[in-house]
Amino acid sequence: MTEAVGGRSHGCGTLRAGDAGREVRLYGWVGARRDHGGVYFVDLRDRSGIIQVVADEEATEEARAALAGLRLEDCVAVRGRVRRRDERNRNPERPTGEVEVLVERVEVLARCDRLPFEIVDDLDAPEELRLRYRYLDLRRRPMLARLELRSRANHAVRCQLVEEGFLEVETPLLTRSTPEGARDYLVPSRVRPGSWYALPQSPQLFKQLCMVGGIERYFQLARCLRDEDLRADRQPEFTQLDLELSFVDEEEILAVVERVMARLFAEILGRELPLPLPRMSHAEAIRRFASDKPDLRNPLEICDLGRQAGTIGFRIFDDALAGGGLVRGVRLPGGARLPRKRIDALEQACKDAGAAGMAWCKVGEDGPSGPLARFLGGDAGAAFLAAADCRPGDLLAVIADRPRRALVALDALRRAAGRELDLVAGPDRLLWVTDFPLFEQDDDGGWFPAHHPFTAPHPDDLEDLLAGRREGIRSRAYDLVMNGVELGSGSIRIHRRDVQEAVFAALGIGPEEARRRFRFLLDAFRFGPPPHGGFALGLDRLYALLAGADSIREVIAFPKTTAGGCPLTEAPAPIDPEQLAELGIRFTAERGEAEKE
Ligand code: AMO
Repeated sequence: MTEAVGGRSHGCGTLRAGDAGREVRLYGWVGARRDHGGVYFVDLRDRSGIIQVVADEEATEEARAALAGLRLEDCVAVRGRVRRRDERNRNPERPTGEVEVLVERVEVLARCDRLPFEIVDDLDAPEELRLRYRYLDLRRRPMLARLELRSRANHAVRCQLVEEGFLEVETPLLTRSTPEGARDYLVPSRVRPGSWYALPQSPQLFKQLCMVGGIERYFQLARCLRDEDLRADRQPEFTQLDLELSFVDEEEILAVVERVMARLFAEILGRELPLPLPRMSHAEAIRRFASDKPDLRNPLEICDLGRQAGTIGFRIFDDALAGGGLVRGVRLPGGARLPRKRIDALEQACKDAGAAGMAWCKVGEDGPSGPLARFLGGDAGAAFLAAADCRPGDLLAVIADRPRRALVALDALRRAAGRELDLVAGPDRLLWVTDFPLFEQDDDGGWFPAHHPFTAPHPDDLEDLLAGRREGIRSRAYDLVMNGVELGSGSIRIHRRDVQEAVFAALGIGPEEARRRFRFLLDAFRFGPPPHGGFALGLDRLYALLAGADSIREVIAFPKTTAGGCPLTEAPAPIDPEQLAELGIRFTAERGEAEKE
């Protein structure tokens, strides 16, 4: 507090016409300034909003000089009197626009240096610069609004779950590796040289231990740390709403998550979310949309041309089919009007997604045209076009490739085509994707868990799993998808020892390795574990969608760049040789070389 001005009486943004005549003491930062022939105006801003402060002929000479001497973003205290503005000077765009504060006393609390960028709503500055001076970026209204949204949403989530009998439990950050499929961030132990903690990729194992511990309904707004390649929707550290429940099946877990989502929609967007949310099996999602997180706002669907593609005499299709690949396409209704450049852009999207190319034809009243057309002359060609339900005016784009690559490219093609034809519209579309496969295969034929190794198999596939099968085994895992974004994942967990062993065996994890990596969990499961399952919602992704932001970095106070760095603190940074020595660590490569790798 300052003696000259006195204790803060109001927030700048709270003043209204009814406050006229009142003496106020305000604290904040200097926004825009104007000098209208010796009448000085300053926009004073604090978290609650902006108020116009004025020094005109009624103000003392001293107050006028003080206001005139302010610089942008100086931190100041102001004492003055609220008065109504003249009709013609009112600002209807601002909640405080009917009034202003006639200044009596101004005190500069701290001066502001030259700014690296302007503190304006529609800032056009490189993101790196915004992140370097994030504290200034946070002074901007849109950033503040997003942090407010985040805080309100976190509060709503907590209220909902506490009302439903959940217990908030914090789990350790210094722990052992958790199997979420990314690389671990590691922390060396000083007292046990050569031993390392892993930072948790999620609280997965601890929340399962909470169930063994009788917590029954656990939740946490949990920080998760994963060393993986970053994208717009990925950060090395992010926040999950993590849940685990005992004595329930899928229905109860999905219903809890739906109620949390409905509460967020109501409190944050002021909209009702119709429940229950629609569901689709993983197999159907792949068949119709080539994706396990389809954006249902995009009406385009994939057509399987595998049966007809082998009959038209096109070698690329024949080769793909002979090699066990797929031939599938997307019909773009009315796409025949797209100029060549736009079609090339679609093909480029497929290539960027890893496909060798994209075959296509336009369908006209008098037959097909374009590169595929010469194979589509006869009956076989007509059958091929009919299989895709093509009509005059359409464009048919086709991918022929190995299954995994074909699906990735088809997903990219469908997204690009949806954008190209401006088809992605309408209200938010949420969707549960269920019955995920238990295992997936990498390009080298190795099997890995589609979710994580504690996910229970589908009861109908249990026998096959115990008999050693891996392909086609379904799991009790489910994802929540919104507008093509994977918001969260969960599953019913294994709590039978023989089933857990079968899953480890299928993943090539022998009994010894299993004990070495997960001894504590397997031990716990000897002591009467309850049947349980859970879910984790990626809050950064969810809040970015709710805020209409195009990157999760916009809803995180201090995010990392896509290169994993923090321009503000300059982390990660080299550390002192003494610190390394204390930890018993020595580099085997020169630092420069290590960075080159
Ligand atoms: P999963 O690994 O699918 O499941 O993660 C759940 C959700 O977390 C979000 N997410 C991320 N958000 C931002 N940056 C990242 N790098 C990132 N990685 C994941 C996504 C994702 O859907 N333990 C299991 C959950 C369970 O089984 O209960 C888990 O972590 O929105």
